[in-house]
Amino acid sequence: MKGLLCTTAPGLEDICSEELRELTGCKVRERPLGVRGRVVVRCPEEEALDLARKINSESLTVHRVAILLGGFEIEHRDERGLDEIRKACLDFPFERYITEQDTFGVRPSRLGEHDFTSVDVGAAVGDAVIERVKREAGFRPEVNLDAPSVIIRADVVGDRVLVGVCTTGDRSLHQRGYRVYDHPAALNPVIAQGLLKLAGDPDSIIDPTCGGATIPIEALLSDPDREAVGVEKFKSHYEGARLNVLAAGVDAEIYLGDATRLFDEVPELRDREFEAAVFNPPYGLKIANPRVVERLYYGLARVLSDLVDVVATVTPRRDWMVEAMEEHGFQLDHERWARHGGLDVRILVFS
Ligand SMILES: C[S@@+](CC[C@H](N)C(=O)[O-])C[C@H]1O[C@@H](n2cnc3c(N)ncnc32)[C@H](O)[C@@H]1O
Repeated sequence: MKGLLCTTAPGLEDICSEELRELTGCKVRERPLGVRGRVVVRCPEEEALDLARKINSESLTVHRVAILLGGFEIEHRDERGLDEIRKACLDFPFERYITEQDTFGVRPSRLGEHDFTSVDVGAAVGDAVIERVKREAGFRPEVNLDAPSVIIRADVVGDRVLVGVCTTGDRSLHQRGYRVYDHPAALNPVIAQGLLKLAGDPDSIIDPTCGGATIPIEALLSDPDREAVGVEKFKSHYEGARLNVLAAGVDAEIYLGDATRLFDEVPELRDREFEAAVFNPPYGLKIANPRVVERLYYGLARVLSDLVDVVATVTPRRDWMVEAMEEHGFQLDHERWARHGGLDVRILVFS
């Protein structure tokens, strides 16, 4: 397995693959070795760096891009597994990416049941890097875990291991520069892009619970000719949304108001129509009475039934949303699992 190893939001690998296919013109493979949240771009080794640069500067659905050194499976989930990882990594050509002037650091991740930690994985891969570079290039590379000039990524998922040289750095691409206001429940922009695609790439969207305006901003970053409107009930978030819109340099309209009383509170929107509503409502996971959220979903569904043809939304409260939407004449067309902020959530599309 050779090429570029891209990470994305688990559950949206198909959306990411589509973007990568368009951006690179290469064949792509979703979930290599069955690992979620990963897409491999198959490209010749000599094109890898240029394509990585392009993905880092243009992609809206990728978190990180690494030059894939290889993938393998381990037989043991205990200490012996660590030795298998170290031995397998000795076959990877780290010396092509680490010079004598560089420092390197391993960024490990681990998912599943093991008798070792991700720190142990980092140490095993680090040992292999040192041994391999000493053997092949004749010097001992220096480790720097705080600010390495070369970052090696090692993902262990169950008994599968993927190893690559990171080209993105420690700041993931989904940590967008426009987030000058950090909403406490901000949506991962990659999921925002997924919702927009699943809504059918609409020409006009409204986000009735826009928070810091991630969805209207992402809508315009992927297509500046769209119309994108956000509504937010609370003044502090409304003001934050406007700051983010300004920082993003896009033309989103943001209104202050309660979206369940949209036409009274935002009269400017009375005669407007939108192709789709795209939003992530509050989930009610941190409040004493989550039923408030169930009522909110009903209120939103009622207003949206007069305003849009398509709704794409994301929530862990799947049944409440489906009931509210069906009660107001929408039909569920598509649903899928996704992972957001450590939570299992449902992406739901209605028309
Ligand atoms: C999960 S957050 C949205 C986060 C947003 N997508 C972002 O990335 O910043 C939900 C937002 O809905 C707002 N909200 C709750 N009830 C509302 C209502 N009735 N009308 C408009 N906004 C509402 C909350 O204040 C909160 O900012």
